[in-house]
Amino acid sequence: MAQLWGGRFTKETDKLVYNFNASISFDQRFYKQDIEGSMAHVKMLCKQGILTEAEKDEILSGLSSILSDVENGTLLISDEYEDIHSFVEANLIDRIGDAGKKLHTGRSRNDQVALDMKLYVRDEITTLKELVVTLLSTLHSMMKEHIHTYMPGFTHLQKAQPITVAHHLGAYMEMFKRDYGRLCDIYARMNYCPLGSGALAGTTYPLDRDYTATLLGFDGPTLNSMDSVSDRDYLIELLSCLSTIMVHLSRFSEEIIIWNSNEYQFIEIDDAYSTGSSIMPQKKNPDIAELVRGKTGRVYGALNSLLTTMKGIPLAYNKDMQEDKELTFDAIDTVKGCLHLFTDMLATMTFKKDNMEASAMNGFTNATDAADYLVNHGVPFRDAHGIIGKLVLLCIEKNIGLHELPLEEYKKISPVFEEDIYEAISLETCVEKRNTIGAPGPKAMEEVLQINEAFLKDIKQK
Ligand code: ARG
Repeated sequence: MAQLWGGRFTKETDKLVYNFNASISFDQRFYKQDIEGSMAHVKMLCKQGILTEAEKDEILSGLSSILSDVENGTLLISDEYEDIHSFVEANLIDRIGDAGKKLHTGRSRNDQVALDMKLYVRDEITTLKELVVTLLSTLHSMMKEHIHTYMPGFTHLQKAQPITVAHHLGAYMEMFKRDYGRLCDIYARMNYCPLGSGALAGTTYPLDRDYTATLLGFDGPTLNSMDSVSDRDYLIELLSCLSTIMVHLSRFSEEIIIWNSNEYQFIEIDDAYSTGSSIMPQKKNPDIAELVRGKTGRVYGALNSLLTTMKGIPLAYNKDMQEDKELTFDAIDTVKGCLHLFTDMLATMTFKKDNMEASAMNGFTNATDAADYLVNHGVPFRDAHGIIGKLVLLCIEKNIGLHELPLEEYKKISPVFEEDIYEAISLETCVEKRNTIGAPGPKAMEEVLQINEAFLKDIKQK
């Protein structure tokens, strides 16, 4: 049991208490960030005349040797230390002696852990953004390929109107574009450096917090030392954003599961992204999509858990806040894994165009267009709706589609109908004439594709 704080105690910590309190098993994840933060702190202390050049150099080389030894596996992070901060400091003192004891000057573990977590989360946001960009690029290429691939659009999971695969995928494109924007917003809002806030009330040393912030790539120092050590808003925002990404992935997964079902047969998931059954030889299951859908609850759980943890904590730091780590790490890992696998599954799945088109042809997906035909010939929409409703009923009795109903049947119910009704309700017309921006028609789609192309180019340059 190696602790930083034995002085005022007369007894050893109970072993169970020690284990209950310790965080090394999970905060060892940010050993790199902890060392990076310490290096910046030491440089600042030296610049301010609080440490000598020689002390600074000794500490910096000690810290870099710890970093490289951890990375090459010669120094193991063991649980004899309470947390990653104690591990680094104790190892530093072991290596360089007295100078190492000055590392923690003008600093508390409260501002240190606040910094480490921010540095770690910042890197993870960058990785998450890259994964979202890969997903967006995949969707974009798929959209370009499927501008004319017809499929039924649904409401209430009932066939509604025909759309294209590009249009359906485009809906997810918009969702993930917003997710990308949210990740950027969170990064910008959290990017202020808490180091130098001390335990809660700053410090009497003449720290240069602006300098530390600049060294660590922050936009500036945080402005209230109590808030700095107890702010977990950015984690709540991140978990909320991750939950939203999972909503989107989960809805998409649900659709893929439906499309892949024997009843629909709209798509084929690649063998490499499907699994079999131990008993039923014929089975090929969409387990990846199901797991993504299933893991969504776990990410929501993290958000709920942190919100609940934070709600009753008086200012400033309280140990409850240590609970932010495992759940945030787990949520980040889960979402990264889901984004990665989901994108690969998407990129390798194939659309069964004929089945999708055949499905779009039946189920009266052209009924609205038939009503619009009448409207274009001067019939008020409400009357047109009623007329087409009757014709649909007739077709259901005859077990045919509106496109198969003879013209005389049309004329019996309204003299307005002419031969051109068939053209007006063909699948091509229903889709290709819908060209207001945001609609599935190819002209509208081309415009959106151009916007998305520019969006992708812009974010890839950043
Ligand atoms: N392991 C702690 C955490 O994650 C670090 C801060 C400890 N500070 C303290 N005063 N005990 O929150």
